[in-house]
Amino acid sequence: MAKIKTLRSASDKSISHRLAIISSISKKKVIIKNYLFAEDTVNTTKALTELSVDIKIENSDVVVNPKGKYVLKEPNDILDFGNSGTGIRLLSGVLSGCDFFCVVSGDSSLTKRPMMRIIEPLSRMGASFMYRKGGYAPLAVHGKSGLSGIEYSSNIASAQVKSAVLLAGLFSDEPVCVREPVKSRNHTENMLRYFGVDVEEKGLSVCLGKNREPYGDFELSVPADISSSAFFMVLAAVKKELEIVLTDVCLNDTRSGILDVFDQCGINYEIKNKKVESNELIGDIVVKHTNSLKPFKIDKELLPSLIDEIPILSILGIFCDGVSVIKDASELRKKESDRIKAICKNLNAVGVKTEEFEDGFKIYPNSEYNLKNAYIDTFGDHRIAMSFKVLEAVCGLEFEFSETHSIKTSYPGFFDHLNYIMS
Ligand code: S3P
Repeated sequence: MAKIKTLRSASDKSISHRLAIISSISKKKVIIKNYLFAEDTVNTTKALTELSVDIKIENSDVVVNPKGKYVLKEPNDILDFGNSGTGIRLLSGVLSGCDFFCVVSGDSSLTKRPMMRIIEPLSRMGASFMYRKGGYAPLAVHGKSGLSGIEYSSNIASAQVKSAVLLAGLFSDEPVCVREPVKSRNHTENMLRYFGVDVEEKGLSVCLGKNREPYGDFELSVPADISSSAFFMVLAAVKKELEIVLTDVCLNDTRSGILDVFDQCGINYEIKNKKVESNELIGDIVVKHTNSLKPFKIDKELLPSLIDEIPILSILGIFCDGVSVIKDASELRKKESDRIKAICKNLNAVGVKTEEFEDGFKIYPNSEYNLKNAYIDTFGDHRIAMSFKVLEAVCGLEFEFSETHSIKTSYPGFFDHLNYIMS
């Protein structure tokens, strides 16, 4: 008989960042339940406090008492976003519409990640930026009240770029539209609409309408993150005699590409208790151990909807009955680490054959019995660390990790949850 475990994974990181930011420039009070208290999202609330927003934690809720979008104040010091690309890029959008000087920066990973992708459109809208050679943080931003409009056609499918432009667009009266090559996560659009802003999504374009004042005056709850749930979804699929029920997961179809991969593999899963809450689809995912797994293929159409799940899906690839392929994925080299390199290096270390190319890689199958103990270099990347912790647990191996504290950037309760599932 399979053991059945029920788990609510960490709250959604993307939704938490956005709720903190959008609530802070709204007109009325917002109470955020189930906010993700992880390093990345706490850095965002700290930055908002330094911008003079009244944002507090009360009984584990985040309570924001905003005064509209024009009252953020120049901070006294550098805003430090730690490891968070979402925090620095989205808030740079807001800062572009604020008439003061501000420096934004982060840790040794964040200061290596490309920022030209936001500097370019935000400068076209009228903000001034100074930055390190090549467009790296620290960035100095001098915003401007009354930004120009923009018709921006992005050559990458990036929700961070799209969101930075849309948030800056709240500080403009002119037409603001963003077009992307493949649709990326649309939480900003859903949330702005929930806050009463006019947002129109037409195919691959998103445009702001006339009303650009987020309102607020409600309480809402952050669902569980499918990217955090993914570690346990894969664990359940490959671990014998296990069934895991992941509850309250955000199933937004711009995020749920992992379910498409599960379909390709023939994994036994079910979605239950679907409902819509604050414009997001939520439900429970039940995953059961599946014996024979077909290999999967991920290409440019699917990639944005599972971009953060590639490390754990690479672990899934080990257990498939054939070669799995990930292509059109050069963006993976620009994440918290160069994930193509980090995944291939560590898979090779444990005895899995890979073939690396510039924009992707192939994973050759293996079985848990042929894997070996190894040194795992996480490259300081939370998702690499969690993925190999799952592999270690599934196979009963003992890897030596370069570090695991990076896990706190997105999933502080990860070890407790892993212990509970394995108990
Ligand atoms: C995020 C968008 C994605 C994702 C990141 C979170 C967001 O990044 O990888 O973890 O919350 O908007 P890109 O926009 O760079 O693809």
